[in-house]
Amino acid sequence: MRFAAESQRRVEAALDQFLPSEHTHPARLHRAMRYSILGGGKRIRPLLVYAAGHVAGAPDNALDAAACAVECIHAYSLIHDDLPAMDDDELRRGKPTCHKAFGEAEAILAGDALQALAFYVLAHALDGADSSRRLKMVELLAQAAGSRGMVGGQSIDLAAVGRELDIAELEDMHIHKTGALIRASVLLGALCANRVEDRDRNALDHFGKYIGLAFQVQDDILDVTATTATLGKRAGADQALNKPTYPSLLGVNGARERARELHQAALDSLEPLGPRAGLLRGLSSYIIDRTA
Ligand code: IPE
Ligand code: IPE
Ligand code: MG
Ligand code: MG
Ligand code: MG
Repeated sequence: MRFAAESQRRVEAALDQFLPSEHTHPARLHRAMRYSILGGGKRIRPLLVYAAGHVAGAPDNALDAAACAVECIHAYSLIHDDLPAMDDDELRRGKPTCHKAFGEAEAILAGDALQALAFYVLAHALDGADSSRRLKMVELLAQAAGSRGMVGGQSIDLAAVGRELDIAELEDMHIHKTGALIRASVLLGALCANRVEDRDRNALDHFGKYIGLAFQVQDDILDVTATTATLGKRAGADQALNKPTYPSLLGVNGARERARELHQAALDSLEPLGPRAGLLRGLSSYIIDRTA
């Protein structure tokens, strides 16, 4: 997809600019931040920001800040997710995890600082957005990232280790730990446009909800079916840590079926948008069919 390659390049250039250089004091912290966020990762959340923004008619330069903000939150969540106190992983995006490369304390701080940077970028760097729109975006991202969003989901995840969840509990965990930020990415893209019709906003919100959950179902499937080399992170980690997942509850085929249903629900949500949603349709297929 040309759109994907161009948007990845675009968000990487913008991240490079927003992040303090690796010589900026305190240099070790800035090196750790740059190490974790630059040069790796699929950039799915920024791609969703750009694609949803295009649906709503936002120009690319108005979308860069929101795309960077969601990727900063995501990169911070990965650094903390990999810590020994959480999933205790040594490989991320094909490289040693942040705490392996820089030590635990610096990794915690790099995550903290990336989180703060996300909100700095939204507050200060949104091209052309008035202050009430900026405030709405800050509110939306804070909700999605916090205790009733991603961080809440991570807490549910930790509490679920070794337990048997039912499907509703598992879905609740996934909606929070991964779905919330993906859903917010879609809505942030739409908010970057000067005006969004309620009907479009609702369609995008439903799409974000379904594709966000589908994304984590596929992540669980790949943990079982893919190799460490293709994933760039340790395969089989969920089973090793005794985590409840879609494949552990439904089997790999059952999980695939659920991913397909969610994909269809996501596509159905886009119906009211007609051909304008072509990029989002393509991205949702990529999310379901991806092999890494
Ligand atoms: C991995 O996310 C963690 C989850 C939320 C499932 P991604 O699969 O988007 O990771 P990167 O950004 O491509 O490394
Ligand atoms: C991580 O879920 C979700 C967040 C980082 C918020 P996982 O623990 O399944 O992610 P991976 O598999 O390590 O990338
Ligand atoms: Mg985890
Ligand atoms: Mg993990
Ligand atoms: Mg996983």
